[in-house]
Amino acid sequence: MIKYLFPTKVSIVKPNIDIVRLQTAVKEICKIYNNSSLTDAYGCLRGNSKLWSSETYDFLSHEIFQEFNRAIQVEIDSFWKELNYSGSPSPLFTAIVEYKHNSYVDIHSHAPVPLVSIFYLQKTKGSDNIMLVDPNADILHYQPHGLALTSYSDWFNQELQVEEGDLVLFPGYLKHKIKPTMTQEDRIVITTNFGVSY
Ligand SMILES: [Fe+2]
Repeated sequence: MIKYLFPTKVSIVKPNIDIVRLQTAVKEICKIYNNSSLTDAYGCLRGNSKLWSSETYDFLSHEIFQEFNRAIQVEIDSFWKELNYSGSPSPLFTAIVEYKHNSYVDIHSHAPVPLVSIFYLQKTKGSDNIMLVDPNADILHYQPHGLALTSYSDWFNQELQVEEGDLVLFPGYLKHKIKPTMTQEDRIVITTNFGVSY
């Protein structure tokens, strides 16, 4: 029985993690890898952002990252249960992303990855929030509309108010984007793609 059409739930929680220790460790890691970072490795970063993926760099063996992964797994399991899905989600890979002034993330999704987490390790007030796009926007994008409206699809953007220390979880099929960072301080996130085993 189909119970919902386009069910979408998003979770914003504060995981139980020592953020100051994690910030210190990540900044050290960023310094070590600074000259060898892969910019725009996944094709959606714009400007001078930097991204380090656990597929290339061995930062997950760091003790604080093991603590971090245990803390977010608790939240992931709880969210997966809330979504009413079967199977067990586990991390596929993790990326540290450092957004410099005026850099941004173009619209993209993580499909076919089932679940995505973003942890806001460093985010000052005034730094831009993530914008999630309702899948209905694709259906209405090419519909005729009045001259006063640029596009129906703009109606479906949902901005999430997030702050430092927040963990955001959402299904991988949801498109999302982030406007240019206009603050002087870098925004740093840790994002993880989750796969599911049955
Ligand atoms: Fe993303």
